[in-house]
Amino acid sequence: MSTRHPIGVFDSGVGGLSILREIRRELAHEDLLYVADSAHIPYGDKSPTFIEARSVAITEFLLSHGAKAVVVACNTATGAAIKMLRSRFRVPIIGMEPAVKPAVATTKSGIIGVLATNGTFTSEKFANLVGQFGGNAKIIVQACAGLVEQVEAGDLSGDRTRALVNKYVLPLTEQGADTIVLGCTHYPFLTALIQDIAGPATTVLDPSRAVARELRRRLEGNGLLSPHDADGAERFCATGPLDK
Ligand code: DGL
Repeated sequence: MSTRHPIGVFDSGVGGLSILREIRRELAHEDLLYVADSAHIPYGDKSPTFIEARSVAITEFLLSHGAKAVVVACNTATGAAIKMLRSRFRVPIIGMEPAVKPAVATTKSGIIGVLATNGTFTSEKFANLVGQFGGNAKIIVQACAGLVEQVEAGDLSGDRTRALVNKYVLPLTEQGADTIVLGCTHYPFLTALIQDIAGPATTVLDPSRAVARELRRRLEGNGLLSPHDADGAERFCATGPLDK
């Protein structure tokens, strides 16, 4: 596998761009190839079998375009498909996971709120994550129907988006959560609004930088870092209309 090949990144839509942004900061010389599965968004309420099939098809597409590594920039797809992707493809595959472990290290109240999709919360991977790293913390899960659609529409601070964030975040802080985990890659685009509604005493955890650093480690470990000095290029593909 050539070091000059691109890194493939995919999500159901624009959410993975929050990860791509951090990858670009961390790895300036890498070429990036992004796929938004806009024909099938949202993933949050689709069956794991469907999401697994989409993840395999997109990974095959990325590999056919020479991807030397694949970032599953979607918590829902990671929960449904990462095992299968890793068993099927030989390139490094980096996934997402809600930042439960850092949240346990951060919380003082011992109460953590996690914002994610239904698909993420019902995955075996999430149950294992909480079992392994949740410790004694109380973890309150909050699925956020409608938020992905607001981000896709580019509405990051309008009335409807604010009303939804209020509805999902206030019950968490009212129950004593002092740490909120962004468990869906669409939500980092709403960090300012979430922080505003949760208040300054709440820590909002976004795992994007950690994922970019993990990608760097995996590329280094596999001798796959780009030897280029020039800035990397970005290419974007979508499987359907972007303005549904
Ligand atoms: N951005 C995705 C995630 O991280 C999924 C959003 C969706 O399509 O429901 O979970």
